[in-house]
Amino acid sequence: MNYNFYGVDTVYLAKKYGTPLYVMSEDYIIERCEEIKKDFLNKYENTFAVYAGKAFNTKTMCRIIAKEGLGLDVVSGGELFTALSVNFPSQKIIFHGNNKSLDELTLAIDNNVGRIVVDNISELEQIIELSKLKSKITKILFRITPGVDSHTHSYISTGDINSKFGISLNEEILYKAIKIATDSEFINLAGFHFHVGSQLDNNDSHLKATTILLNTMQKAKNDLNFTTKELNVGGGFGIKYADSNNRKNISYFTDAIMELIKTGTNDKNLDMPLVIIEPGRWIVGESGITIYEIGNIKNAPGLSTYAGINGGMPDNPRPALYQAKYEALIANKSNIEKNEIVTIAGKCCESGDILIKDLEVPQVKKGDLLVVKSTGAYNYSMSNNYNKLPIPAVVMIKNGEDRIIVKRQSYEEMINREI
Ligand code: LLP
Repeated sequence: MNYNFYGVDTVYLAKKYGTPLYVMSEDYIIERCEEIKKDFLNKYENTFAVYAGKAFNTKTMCRIIAKEGLGLDVVSGGELFTALSVNFPSQKIIFHGNNKSLDELTLAIDNNVGRIVVDNISELEQIIELSKLKSKITKILFRITPGVDSHTHSYISTGDINSKFGISLNEEILYKAIKIATDSEFINLAGFHFHVGSQLDNNDSHLKATTILLNTMQKAKNDLNFTTKELNVGGGFGIKYADSNNRKNISYFTDAIMELIKTGTNDKNLDMPLVIIEPGRWIVGESGITIYEIGNIKNAPGLSTYAGINGGMPDNPRPALYQAKYEALIANKSNIEKNEIVTIAGKCCESGDILIKDLEVPQVKKGDLLVVKSTGAYNYSMSNNYNKLPIPAVVMIKNGEDRIIVKRQSYEEMINREI
C-alpha cells in the first residue's frame, strides 16, 4: 500500500511532480490557525498572534495567513517583499532582525508595517532619523535579552544573557533606550518583546522570561513613568520530530503565560498589556513532508547499509546543523514489515550529509520512495544550492487536491544570475 498524506497518494505526487518534493497540507495549517483563534485570540481579550515566516515564507503561505486573519513576523527585506507582493496587510506585519539595513527599514517604514522590533540602540537612532525624514510615527517594541537559558540546541537558544539578540536588561542601557524612544516625537514605543528559543517542549523558559519582563515593566513605570502597552512573548513552541514529545496544544503555553501576566500585572498594579505570540514551527512544521527517490544502495559485512537519496543537506540542512532527528518511511511499501536498518545518505560531497541514521525499513531497492515527516518548517526556507542541486518544488494539498505553489528550480535558473 502507498502512503497517503492528507487524502493524496504520495507515490502519485512523486510521479506527477518529480522528486525531491516538498508536500504541505493547507488543511493542517488552517487547523493550527483555528486552534490559535479558538484557544488564544478568542479566549483572551487584547491578544494578537503572528506567524513567524522564517519557518516557511512563500506567497501562498502569506495568503493563507492573511485569510486566517493572523499577523506575520518578517525578518528581512526579502520576507517583507514577499508579503507585500501579495498585499499582506502591512499593519499586521512585525519586522524583526538584529541588523536591519537602511534599505530594509526604508521598505518597512514606506509600507507602514505595524511594528518594528528594535534590537539595539544604534538601530533605534537610525529608525528615529528615518521616521523624521518621512514625517511618520513608527510603532516599535524593544527586543529584550531576558537572560534565560532555554534547554534546546545552542544554535536555536536565543534568550541567554550574552545572546547577539536584543537590548540588555542592564538598567543604564535599557533606561537610555527608553528615554531616547520616548523623547522622540517620531517614535511610539509600545512595549517589549522577547524570544527565548525554538523547539521548546515545555513552558519553563517562557514563564521565566515573562516574570523577568513583568519586573522590567514595573521598574520602567516606577523609575521612568513608562507604561508598557504591549508584550510580545515570541514563538518557539515545539512540535513532534522523531526524538521529541508530541506537539502540545497552544493553550498549554498560552494559558500559563496569560495567567502569569494577569496575576503579575494585578499584583504590581500595572495595566494589562496587549499580549502577542509569534509561533512559526508550531503552525507549519508538521504540515509538511519531503518525498525523495532512493538510488544506490550499498552494504558490506559488519558495516552500515547506505541508501542514497536524490537530495540531502541543501533541501534539509537541519540534521547537519542541529543533529535534528526525523521519522521516515517508504511510501510505496508503507504496510510492509520492517526488517532492515539503513542509513539515509544525502547526495552532497560531505560525510556529514546524512539525513537519517539507522532507519528501520522494509527491504529497500533503487527506485523506492522515501517520505520524511515534519519537514514543513525550516526546510524549504533554509534550502540552498550547495553542490548546485536545484531547489525542489513545493506542492500544497487542500481538501484532497494538490496544486503546485513553488516550481522546481531549473539548472538554467540556477546559473542565470552568474556573469
Ligand atoms: N520570533 C522570533 C523573534 C524568532 O527569532 C523566531 C525564530 C520565532 C519567533 C519563531 O520560532 P519558532 O516558533 O518557529 O520556533 N532554523 C532553526 C530555527 C531558528 C529559529 C529562529 N527564530 C531550526 O531549524 O530549528
